[in-house]
Amino acid sequence: MTKDHVNYVYDPVVLKGRNTEHPVHPLILSRSSPREMSGEDIPDRELMALFDAARWAPSYRNAQPWRFLYAKRSTVHWQKFLDIVKPANQAWCHTASALVVVVAHKWTVDRETGKPKEIPTASFDTGAACMALALEGSGRDLVVHCMFGMDFEKAYKVFGIDRDRDGVQCMIAVGKRPALTVRDREPRVSQRNPIESFAFEGGFVKVYHK
Ligand SMILES: Cc1cc2nc3c(=O)[nH]c(=O)nc-3n(C[C@H](O)[C@H](O)[C@H](O)COP(=O)(O)O)c2cc1C
Repeated sequence: MTKDHVNYVYDPVVLKGRNTEHPVHPLILSRSSPREMSGEDIPDRELMALFDAARWAPSYRNAQPWRFLYAKRSTVHWQKFLDIVKPANQAWCHTASALVVVVAHKWTVDRETGKPKEIPTASFDTGAACMALALEGSGRDLVVHCMFGMDFEKAYKVFGIDRDRDGVQCMIAVGKRPALTVRDREPRVSQRNPIESFAFEGGFVKVYHK
């Protein structure tokens, strides 16, 4: 346990705007994907706290297949990462404090045989790590916004990633949110499909979402 004290916050606009059927922890309910960021730097200890949260995600045989390549703004790495983002996302994420390329590592070592073994859930586990990172960031009033809108080919090339070993999943923009009082249109409060459309007692039921 660390002695650092963090005042976790729950975005009041998102909390109020979301219709939920049962009580859900406010850290989960108030997480959202805002785009408005202040363009400030992020202290290392704050960024590392997000990766620390990701660290505690569950994974197949505790193989921990997530890999995060990152660049902080105001560093020599920044432009290289920003250039991988698709223009539609660049339009807002150029004010991020850090850009992250999320990679799922596909291999582990089999405990019994000592031989390489493919991780069947590398993407799934990496997604869980991203959610932990997002929740930690949201609680710290940071923007954590996933982006599929990126140039995957470029990412494989620029970072010399071997597709047989590692799969690029998405990018994440991390940034400081402007003060509550000066936030304009944000946040857009998204809703969700009803529970009965995805949770089925006893077996699968096909439901076609509109
Ligand atoms: C893997 C993934 C990729 C996403 N890609 C983008 C993207 O390229 N651009 C964008 O603006 N939002 C992107 N999003 C954000 C989603 O649109 C957002 O999570 C969704 O609309 C639900 O809203 P909420 O996160 O505020 O609850 C992505 C989210 C995920 C999980």
